[in-house]
Amino acid sequence: MKTIEPKILYFGTPVAIVSTLNEDGGTNLSPISSFWTLGWTMTLGVLNDAKMAENLQRYGDCVVNLPTPEMWEAVEKLAPLTGKNPVPKEKSEQFHFAKDKFAAAGLSRLESELVKPLRVRECPFQMEARVLSLNELGGDKVAKLGGGMAVVVEVLRIHAEEEFVLEGTDHINPDKWSPLVYNFRHYYGLADEELGRTFRA
Ligand SMILES: Cc1cc2nc3c(=O)[nH]c(=O)nc-3n(C[C@H](O)[C@H](O)[C@H](O)COP(=O)(O)O)c2cc1C
Repeated sequence: MKTIEPKILYFGTPVAIVSTLNEDGGTNLSPISSFWTLGWTMTLGVLNDAKMAENLQRYGDCVVNLPTPEMWEAVEKLAPLTGKNPVPKEKSEQFHFAKDKFAAAGLSRLESELVKPLRVRECPFQMEARVLSLNELGGDKVAKLGGGMAVVVEVLRIHAEEEFVLEGTDHINPDKWSPLVYNFRHYYGLADEELGRTFRA
């Protein structure tokens, strides 16, 4: 064994695209992979310098959309974008501003039923949610990234593509569903070869 200091600890986590509400009523889309659920309560790891952090603080409703492995290139189109204008100084070398992230990634808008941010039509699971609490994350490494929050949300409604649901039940069919997995800045499906890598790998 040896002691190592990797910059990130993405040990293979599903990717979600989070829809949040901009101040002008438009929807911003942000890829994340730091999230987990207990029951219908979900915790999102959000860096402070992201537009989604600002949006979740101002208007605590969002949609957590789950892409398929085949959608990795659309996610990667979102990867170098931010809804922040101007782009925060620390991000300015690698990121640029995009107002319409749907157009930038070739994704389609779908009205939500309970919250204002729009859903991503192409994602087979779309979870409408509202913020329960915002909790500052301590720790040196996250501080170096500009700080972050654990945003706890409650899922209010789940929209699922029928092909991934076992007929006649509310169960997701694990034989059919594979998340898009972020494995140290490379994209995978379950039991798949690597699909590609993010521009920062
Ligand atoms: C696959 C993937 C996973 C990511 N995971 C996270 C995450 O869990 N939390 C986070 O704050 N940023 C994460 N990012 C970085 C944000 O997507 C990035 O900061 C983006 O600019 C946010 O957009 P926004 O500023 O418009 O909210 C991830 C990026 C990619 C491509």
